[in-house]
Amino acid sequence: MDPIIVKNSGYIELKKIQDERDGNLIIMETLKNIPFEIKRVYYINNLENSVSVRGKHAHRELEQVIFCISGSFILGLDDGSQKQKIFMNKDNIGVLLGKHLWHTMEEFSSGCVLLVVASDYYQESDYIRDYNLFKNIVGQQ
Ligand code: TYD
Repeated sequence: MDPIIVKNSGYIELKKIQDERDGNLIIMETLKNIPFEIKRVYYINNLENSVSVRGKHAHRELEQVIFCISGSFILGLDDGSQKQKIFMNKDNIGVLLGKHLWHTMEEFSSGCVLLVVASDYYQESDYIRDYNLFKNIVGQQ
């Protein structure tokens, strides 16, 4: 996988126990491989519309780790100065979405399932949904 060049991100690899005929077991543990206390877990499925683009926001404080636990998609990352795209197709390798990281999810394969763990409960006030506002916020740092 390509190295991650944007700020406030990085790969997170989970232990995977492969049992050839009986499938895979993949484990994540708070503060062991997830670098925060998990307060919320959500998953996204039914992504059969090939032109869907999700995300298109950043967060003020929230930290998340995003996984593609089935199928594949393309994760777009933008820290305000550097941008990159990551092909997500490994069930045990997630990407840290730290604060102030604009992200998009698109080009979902059939049957794609995303799993996200988050450091806090849902709060709309933590979202930055306007790209110009995002650029202003990161530009002031
Ligand atoms: P959003 O985070 O914008 O989705 P995505 O980034 O995957 O495109 O959330 C979509 C909607 O769901 C929005 O109205 C907020 C709501 N929502 C919750 O109520 N709770 C949650 O934990 C999340 C993630 C979203």
